[in-house]
Amino acid sequence: MSAVERTLVLLKPDALARGLVGRIVQRFEEAGLKVIGVKMKLMDADFARRHYFDLEERFGASVYNATATFMQQAPVIALVLEGAEAVANVRRLAGKTFPNESAPGTIRGDFAHTSKAYSEANHQVVANLIHASGNTEEAKYEVELWFDSSELFEYKTLAERFVF
Ligand code: PPS
Repeated sequence: MSAVERTLVLLKPDALARGLVGRIVQRFEEAGLKVIGVKMKLMDADFARRHYFDLEERFGASVYNATATFMQQAPVIALVLEGAEAVANVRRLAGKTFPNESAPGTIRGDFAHTSKAYSEANHQVVANLIHASGNTEEAKYEVELWFDSSELFEYKTLAERFVF
């Protein structure tokens, strides 16, 4: 069903370390998506488990452990974005999980380039800059995990009248 949706984006430690926060947020703003919540947080092991609750089941313990450890090494910035079919649109703007498969013009395609094979050969987590909710059910779970309803805001943007 087509609708205005909310979705969660995390700017990962590599995005902050590389000074890409502003440029990444700009991509979403330029597409007309509305920022309705923002926070910075250092994840702990318990919170990482709650955020990535099904990652181990989907990809195995080594992917879970590498991703959870990476996400706890430095603060991340969480955003809630709102817009028409925001969940799928944010994934489209983000690009594919592995940056080498991400089209130019996407965030991962423009600001990163490493592959699954490279990451695995070098025992590194894939440095793909952002997390974005994978579907509407996951988005609902993740927005509620990261934000209290009092931390989400309603306001009008000049763009939304024309964009969605
Ligand atoms: S997918 O491919 O769309 O189903 O993946 P996704 O739902 O985005 O979530 C996968 C998260 O795990 C991280 N990760 C890996 N995934 C697959 N294979 C390997 N080897 C791997 N290493 C790390 C990946 O970066 C995704 O993290 P998030 O934070 O969700 O983007």
